[in-house]
Amino acid sequence: MTTKLIIDTDPGIDDAMAIFYAAAAPDIELLGLTTIFGNVTTKMATRNALRLLEAADLDLPVAEGAGQPLVLPPFEPSAHVHGEEGFGDIPAATPKGQALDEEAADFLIRMARLHKGELIVCPIGPLTNIALAVQRDPDFVKNCKQIVIMGGSLEAGGNISPHAEANIYHDPHAAEVVFAAAAGKITMVGLDVTLKILCVPEDFDAIKERSPELGGMLKQMSVFYIKFYQEVANLNGCSLHDPAAVIACTHPDLFQTRAVPLRVSVDPETSGATELADDARGKTNVAMDVDAEAVKALFLKRLSLLP
Ligand code: BDR
Ligand code: CA
Repeated sequence: MTTKLIIDTDPGIDDAMAIFYAAAAPDIELLGLTTIFGNVTTKMATRNALRLLEAADLDLPVAEGAGQPLVLPPFEPSAHVHGEEGFGDIPAATPKGQALDEEAADFLIRMARLHKGELIVCPIGPLTNIALAVQRDPDFVKNCKQIVIMGGSLEAGGNISPHAEANIYHDPHAAEVVFAAAAGKITMVGLDVTLKILCVPEDFDAIKERSPELGGMLKQMSVFYIKFYQEVANLNGCSLHDPAAVIACTHPDLFQTRAVPLRVSVDPETSGATELADDARGKTNVAMDVDAEAVKALFLKRLSLLP
């Protein structure tokens, strides 16, 4: 059985890794991508998403998402982490195709209706598009099978501020809408687990050797990404944040979860922190531990299937 999946993404280096993983995974039926700001602007995210699909020879829809957070003013893209254009030092390129003439939130609503009870939505960027889908369609959450989010942190601290993980930080109001409306359907794959999954330069060398074209692209991006990790954390490797969430969609057995009520802080002091809420809120499944070696092995094995 394959998993029907839409990835909501801000590509972004680890987003590219996640999307190529989904392209290679025989147990994933990728139905399209929706785009969002975060690592890059939304326009750049759309361009990069189209480019990744074309590189992987996948003719799939891309729907462009919101240009800015629900309430906060727009953020500068994270060029120091993902490069000026989103893929490290790989220069921008214009894709052949173009995005749908339909907004990301409306595309998500339509696809969730069409694949009622079967669609997993996997946001690996800020949650603005998902919040808009929740607000526009009272049945959206019900229609989704699951929402598997890369974002947040329960006990691991933040990576963009002492309290917050970057995706939640970039639109805390949207995240709060989603956690409030969809608690029971959410698996949060946050820093509690993604920081435990580390890929070193030799892993990307091996990927490039077996998959010269797409693996070669990831290798080139990873050099920039790992330089950032070296500077901020003195680590000769990078975390597989976004691929971990995609892998959790099909291999939940590799993750240990804890079910807790969660809310998102919009207090300027702790903005974007994912915190325990009172019991009135439904419980979210939070990934707290992971078989990191197994996740990494799956990632390396499947990427090697690509050209
Ligand atoms: C998340 O933030 C972005 O930089 C990454 O692409 C990932 O989605 C990690 O905190
Ligand atoms: Ca991302």
